[in-house]
Amino acid sequence: CMPILEQCYNLMDFEAVARRVMKKTAWAYYSSGADDEITMRENHSAFHKIWFRPKILVDVEKVDMSTTMLGTKVSMPFYVTATALGKLGNPEGEVVLTRGAKKHNVIQMIPTLASCSFDEIVDAAEGDQVQWLQLYVNKDRAITKRIIEHAEKRGCKGLFITVDAPQLGRREKDMRSKFSDVGSNVQNTGGDNVDRSQGAARAISSFIDPSLSWKDIPWFKSVTKMPILLKGVQRVEDVIRAVAAGVDGVVLSNHGGRQLDTARSGIEVLAETMPELRRLGLEDKIEVYIDGGIRRATDILKALCLGAKGVGIGRPFLYAMSAYGLPGVDRAMQLLKDEMEMNMRLIGCTSVDQLTPELLDVRSLHTH
Ligand code: FNR
Repeated sequence: CMPILEQCYNLMDFEAVARRVMKKTAWAYYSSGADDEITMRENHSAFHKIWFRPKILVDVEKVDMSTTMLGTKVSMPFYVTATALGKLGNPEGEVVLTRGAKKHNVIQMIPTLASCSFDEIVDAAEGDQVQWLQLYVNKDRAITKRIIEHAEKRGCKGLFITVDAPQLGRREKDMRSKFSDVGSNVQNTGGDNVDRSQGAARAISSFIDPSLSWKDIPWFKSVTKMPILLKGVQRVEDVIRAVAAGVDGVVLSNHGGRQLDTARSGIEVLAETMPELRRLGLEDKIEVYIDGGIRRATDILKALCLGAKGVGIGRPFLYAMSAYGLPGVDRAMQLLKDEMEMNMRLIGCTSVDQLTPELLDVRSLHTH
């Protein structure tokens, strides 16, 4: 029989339930990675190559997990990253994640390819709740301009341009499931003819412009005052180039292992990036985030120790939402919060500014 919500004790437990209760096509779309899914697995296992060097006998009675992301104060150093097609997992779609994010005071990144409309997701936010926009850049820049201007007008506080997907990866699990219901509300796709035989991802992505390049960055800066971040950066050279291009941040990410298979994990790229940024005196010029494979608070702590401002989490909240709706998302976030508080105590830190590289032993990370 199905576990009840209270029997989910960590983020992996939600995945196990979701796998059993979700429609096969929906499970295939959410859970798949590109090709042999080597990068998808590596995203998770890379964290196991980093070990803690905890401090003892620190007064850790009071622990403060809060931090800021792009100037917004948040209760914990993670955000809900953009994942397309929320209604595959829950009839209410992305607004469930909006409500969970509100409850825990974390930021939600709204996907271009949400199954709720952009306005529905913004309308579901309450009070001063902060949302960001993930942008797939349309071949028709007039459409993209409208999306950006509308997001800014509706109060979005960050523009995350996805740069790891000039063409959508081959997610064979998804392709095999011969996706038929493309989610009637998918917005802004430019009305292309949709080929459903290639799976959900490919069916909805044909509008994405593969000619997008560094030359386009000044244009984005000219059409918005929102901070601009590049999502899907995978090498330190490109981080440095992003600083030179005047963007406000990067997400070191491989799209949850759904794009280039055998690309490195975000945490590995972070370990390559931060020492170089420090050497060049650039570490304060840009906010660096990572996503991919984050399932435990220890993963988040490792990323922060290495210099990330915060981390994005994708599938775990989709699975929690698909299995249990809002109570599932709420519990998943609460579990992370509890793990985080405990683990900060156990490594001898009472605030996120105390998370530094010397708390880690990364020697095994660089041995392959
Ligand atoms: C994604 N991701 C993604 N990224 C993006 O920029 N635009 C998008 O539309 C989507 N859609 C999407 C759908 C699904 C089902 C998944 C699982 C992922 C990638 C996402 O933002 C993020 O990079 C990864 O999900 C992070 O890895 P984890 O946390 O899922 O392991």
